[in-house]
Amino acid sequence: MSGIETTGSKRLVLVSGRAHPALAEQIAHELGSELVPTDARTFANGEIYARFDESVRGSDAFVIQSHTAPINEWLMEQLIMLDALKRASAKRITVVAPFYPYARQDKKGRGREPISARLVADLFKAAGADRIMSIDLHAAQIQGFFDGPVDHLFAMPVLLEEFKNSLDPSTLTVVSPDMGRVRVADIWSDKLGAPLAIIHKRRDPLVPNQVSVHEIIGPVEGRVCLLVDDLIDTGRTIVKAAEALKKAGAIGVVVAATHAVFSSPATEILQSDVIDRVVVTDTLPVPEDKRWDRLTVLPIAPLLARAIHEVFEDGSVTSMFDGAA
Ligand code: R5P
Repeated sequence: MSGIETTGSKRLVLVSGRAHPALAEQIAHELGSELVPTDARTFANGEIYARFDESVRGSDAFVIQSHTAPINEWLMEQLIMLDALKRASAKRITVVAPFYPYARQDKKGRGREPISARLVADLFKAAGADRIMSIDLHAAQIQGFFDGPVDHLFAMPVLLEEFKNSLDPSTLTVVSPDMGRVRVADIWSDKLGAPLAIIHKRRDPLVPNQVSVHEIIGPVEGRVCLLVDDLIDTGRTIVKAAEALKKAGAIGVVVAATHAVFSSPATEILQSDVIDRVVVTDTLPVPEDKRWDRLTVLPIAPLLARAIHEVFEDGSVTSMFDGAA
C-alpha cells in the first residue's frame, strides 16, 4: 500500500471566550474534557488578543462564546479566536454561539436597513469557521446565511422537561407572543396536548423595544397560559402579552424562553403579579442580581455537550430532536 498510514485518531479541542466561562466549563465537564488554556486579554485601547497555550494543529476545534452584553466585544473576541485557530492549523473549526448575535436583524423590514445576521455569518466564515452550532435561532432561515453546515439545536426538550409534570393539559393553552413564534409554539402545543393561542403584537419601527398588543386569537379565558418565546430582552413583549392574557380572563401565566438577554428593565417588570413563573436556560449568563424567586434557570450545557459529541463523532444531531433538527 502506498502513501502514509495514520492512526485516524481525532482530537477534540474546546476553547472558550471570556463572556460566559462557566457554560464552557460545564460543557467540557459533560464531555469529560477540559478547555484549552487560553491567554485572552483586552489592551488599553480596547483591542483584543487571544493565544492558545497548547498546540491545536490538526484538531477538531469548538469555539464557545456566549453573546451577552457587550455583544460586539464578545463577537470580536470569538472572531479573533477563530483566526488564531485557523493560523495554528486546526483541521475543522466550529463556532458555538448558543445565542446567535444580531439574529433579530435577519431581513430588511424597511429600505436602507442592514441584514446584520448575514453580516455576522460572513464574519464567522472570513475568520475561519467551517460550521456553526446555535440554539433556537430567531429565524430558522439564518441557517442559510452561512455557507456551510449549521447545527440548529432546540432548547424545547430541556424546557419541556421542567413543565411536563406541573401543567395540566386540560386547562393549559400554549401562547405565541407574536406571529414569528407560531411555528415553535405549535410544536409545544402538540407535545403538551394543549390548544394554541396567538397574540398579534405590533412594534413601533421608529422606537426600539416598544411593543403593543392588538388581539388574541385562541382560547385563553379560564386557562393557564404558557407563553413561549425564543428570547426575553427588555421583557416588554412578555409583560404586555401577560397583561393582555390576564385581561382576557387567563387564570395564570407562565413563561418559557430560551435566551435570557434581560436588558433593563426586564428583571424588574418580569416580577409583575401577572406572571406566575419564568423559566429560561443559561445560553447567556444570568448573574445573581438578575434572578428572583419565580425565575428558574435551566442548564443548557448537557444539550450543547451532546451536540458537540455528535458532531465530533460524525454522529447525528437530528437524532437528538426526534428527527426534527
Ligand atoms: C421578537 O420577535 C422576539 O421573539 C422577542 O419576543 C423579542 O425580541 C423580545 O424583546 P423584548 O423582551 O425587548 O420585548
